[in-house]
Formats: sequence, structure tokens, C-alpha cells
Amino acid sequence: DVAEKGGYPDFMMKEIHEQPRVIRDTLAGRLVNGALSIDELDLSAEELNLIDRVCVIACGTSYHAGLIAKNLIEGWARIPCEVEVASEFRYRNPIITPSTLVVAVSQSGETADTLAAIRDARVKGAKVFGITNVVGSPVARESDGVIYTKANKEIAVASTKSFLGQVASLTLLAMLLAQAKGKLKTNQVRLLFHELADTAEQVERILADTAAIDEAARACKDASSALFVGRGMGAAIACEGALKLKEISYLHAEAYPAGEMKHGPIALIDEGFPVIAVATKSPVYDKLVSNLQEAKARGAMIVAVATEGDEDIRAHADHVVYIPKVRDAFSAVTASVPLQLFARAIAVERGCDVDQPRNLAKSVTVE
Ligand code: AGP
Repeated sequence: DVAEKGGYPDFMMKEIHEQPRVIRDTLAGRLVNGALSIDELDLSAEELNLIDRVCVIACGTSYHAGLIAKNLIEGWARIPCEVEVASEFRYRNPIITPSTLVVAVSQSGETADTLAAIRDARVKGAKVFGITNVVGSPVARESDGVIYTKANKEIAVASTKSFLGQVASLTLLAMLLAQAKGKLKTNQVRLLFHELADTAEQVERILADTAAIDEAARACKDASSALFVGRGMGAAIACEGALKLKEISYLHAEAYPAGEMKHGPIALIDEGFPVIAVATKSPVYDKLVSNLQEAKARGAMIVAVATEGDEDIRAHADHVVYIPKVRDAFSAVTASVPLQLFARAIAVERGCDVDQPRNLAKSVTVE
């Protein structure tokens, strides 16, 4: 057992530490003679150019990877992108045309709702592209093309390394679409690719010093509820942070776009209420900080995941977890890691079975 866990106390910790390798493996061989290569997609540049809508379907953590992808696909390729949980998509007769690219994201490749959604999309004439971690899985078999996330087998019920693999793969897909649409030039794609590759080392740096994360976790462990907030990319990252925390620690957590707090959730905040903020430098950083001030004024205990060098954030947060600076587009790769560690540390503090949370299964093969 100890050997299987590679010397780590649980599989989740082992898998969190595998993430730099997952990023490297996911990107390996994807830049050929300076150009991005995703042959598995099996669509010519002209066919790619005809895509006028992207629809990501997934569940749980994979759905959150889709939320990140939406920011990238719309931001870079300027193609409208919807992200929908598969269990809703399959029952609402969604508008799908032959020029819609449906991207099905599933670690296990066998989630019942995601599979049903794939079948529905194909009947409607869409090309379906799968992103999965399991070779030969139903999602791989039933899609027109597939990217494997190279996470290798994930044992802990809570997805960590497969999430990062999904985000890295979807980032490549967004770059490819942007290139096909003429929105990113080859040299820009190359620059982005190398920056994305650099995140492997940046994640290693985050993993090397977790003292601030552990301290924040100890401060929050006895809370009965927590709010995760962010804006832009940070709002999507917050969703995954909240899911991770609730599924393994049973501490109720909710994610909200920070600007929405004043429309309801701010009523929750009283003395010591934990607010975990994705507060990395981004175009909406100042807006986020003013949301944190509103929360702080009501007694919130603020944990901020912030960019190294940002000393100003200390004035607004009780605990600051610094992470290396990356461009906003890649912030999900780095900022998600401290949130995984935070959730795990709280679960351990609360005496929970980190790898095998109650009521959950690794693959959800029934509806
Ligand atoms: C993630 O931590 C969860 N265990 C869960 O939300 C999971 O992501 C979801 O069930 C989807 O699974 P899939 O990626 O295998 O389709």
C-alpha cells in the first residue's frame, strides 16, 4: 500500500504531486516543427474553420475544466462556447448543428450522462471530440476523435491530476481553433505553448512549499461553510476549489463569481466566515479586491491565492498563498493546485478518508 502510494500518505497527495509530469506528457509531441499538432481531431484546417460553435459537455470536475475552456476558446478563437452538465444537456433537446463541435470531457470515459449526451449530439449531426484519461473507454470509442489526458490511472475519487490534464488538453484545443480561425498567428501559438509548458515547473514550485496552504487550512477546518470566489478565470477556478473541498472534507462550500456576492451570498458572511479568493493578477484584479474589501468589512476570514510579488493583497486577506506569475489564460493550471492541497489538508484535519469519500464512486456509470 505504502509503495503503491509512492511514499505519500494517500493517493490524492500522490496524484497532486504527479501534476507536473501530466502537464509535460500532455504537451509532449504537440509542437511539431513549430506548429501545433492534434492529429486525433482528424479535421482539416478548412473544416476547423467552419466550426461556428463549441459545446462542452461533462460532469463534476470535468465540467469545471469546460468552464476554463470556455474562457480560452471564446477569448482566443472568438467562437461562442457553451458548457453544460451532461445530465441537463441530454434531456433538453439542445440546438446542435453540423458546424457545432461538441467536446465531451470525462476522466473515466464512462460517465453515463456524458455518454448519453455524446450519442444525442451525434444523432443531431455534430462532430464529437472526446477528452478522456482512459484508453479505449466508451467516450473514446464513441467520439469522432479523442485526446488522451496522459494522467495515468487516477485512484483517489477526487480528481486532481486528470483535471490538470483536461485543462492542458483543452488549452491546446483552444489554441488550435484560434489558429484555424486566423485569430492567433503561428508564432503567438508557439509562445503560448512554451509558456504553458513552463507551468509544469511552476506547479513544482507550488508543491515544494505548502506551509501557507496548511496554515490557512488549519484556520478554516472548523468552519461549517465556506465561499470560494473569483472573477473571470478565477470564477471557474473557484468552482473547482469548492467542489474539491466539499467532496473530501464534507465542509459545505459554494463558489460564486465575486461580483455576485452582493446579490445574495454576502448575507452569509459574519465574523470568521471563510472566503477563499482566487486573487491572482488578472484584468479584473482590482474589481476582485473591492469585493474582498466588502467581505472583509463584514468579518470574513479571507484566504487569498495571489501572485508572487503582490504585497498589496496582504492588506485585504488574513492568509495569503503565493503562486508564481503566469498569464491569466494559464492561471487555472497553477491556482487550482493550492486549492487541491487546501481541500486535502482540511479533510485530513477533519479526519476524513481523503481517497474514498462517503457516497461517491470514481466512475458514475448509472444515471
Ligand atoms: C471529481 O473530483 C469528482 N469525483 C466528480 O465530480 C467527477 O469529476 C465526475 O463524476 C465526472 O467524472 P468523469 O470525468 O469520469 O466523467
